[in-house]
Amino acid sequence: MFKVKFQEYIDLVEAYLEQLPWNQDDFMCRTMHYSLAGGGKRVRPVLALAAAETVGSDPRRILSAAIGLEMIHTYSLIHDDLPAMDNDDYRRGRLSNHMVFGEGNAILAGDGLLTHAFEILTEPLPVPPEKQLRVIREVAAAAGYRGMVGGQADDLAGEGKALRLPEIERIHRRKTGALLTVSLRLGAILGGGTAAEIEALTAYAEHLGLAFQIKDDILDQEGDSAAMGKPSGSDLRRGKATYPSLMGLSGAKDYLREHIVQAQAALSVMPRPAPFLHEFADFIEQRQC
Ligand code: IPE
Ligand code: IPE
Ligand code: MG
Ligand code: MG
Ligand code: MG
Repeated sequence: MFKVKFQEYIDLVEAYLEQLPWNQDDFMCRTMHYSLAGGGKRVRPVLALAAAETVGSDPRRILSAAIGLEMIHTYSLIHDDLPAMDNDDYRRGRLSNHMVFGEGNAILAGDGLLTHAFEILTEPLPVPPEKQLRVIREVAAAAGYRGMVGGQADDLAGEGKALRLPEIERIHRRKTGALLTVSLRLGAILGGGTAAEIEALTAYAEHLGLAFQIKDDILDQEGDSAAMGKPSGSDLRRGKATYPSLMGLSGAKDYLREHIVQAQAALSVMPRPAPFLHEFADFIEQRQC
């Protein structure tokens, strides 16, 4: 049941992405499409669609906004792989954007995806415009210096340093947690969720976001590069502050479990059952890519 539902959401996302006017004669279109179409789990749009459905809405009503999240995420991956950042040659099972198009064009592909995301986020939706405006502001804040960009900056500054738990947690909450949290909030708010539902889904998302990056750090140590479509061992090479570097693999796995349990507990106050999101948390813990 979970897998079928997951695939249904992914199919919606992939179909929307492919019907966008990707003009292959336009160089920037090609560079942006290269990274966007190159696989990926589509976790952020799927969470947005699932949140909308959980609060009783048809997820297709908010599809364009969910796609905006995937564009922001993909931009962050292109920039994250640049030599000046993590310097990784592979992403989503193919050469990183800068390896194919060069660094300057990869920076621009990221810029193009980030700005195009807001074009898509402002596409009129069948929801009250003030709700859409609220969501767009939240997405901008989550992606910016208080969220993802700030977390990425601290991640860079932390290279080679032995950071403590509160510092690592602050990096992870912002570089990864912020966009995941706003993905669920986007679905819940645009889907017409009540204040209580939005609050519960936010609590779920905060634990899930942290769990997601803890698992990413674990996979960087023990995952299979071919399955992940990106190199393992990158964090060690860059001297990154990660959960396994602080508490060992087994400590990180215990901590991951704690956040999965807390994410699932947050769902229990939802007026409607949320079986997909409950199982999604288990998927995050068990994923191999
Ligand atoms: C990788 O994100 C970067 C992090 C924020 C940890 P994903 O694991 O969601 O990457 P894709 O989208 O599946 O490629
Ligand atoms: C990246 O974290 C978070 C982003 C905002 C892109 P990582 O640097 O650990 O992501 P991967 O492991 O390269 O996918
Ligand atoms: Mg990084
Ligand atoms: Mg990286
Ligand atoms: Mg990583």
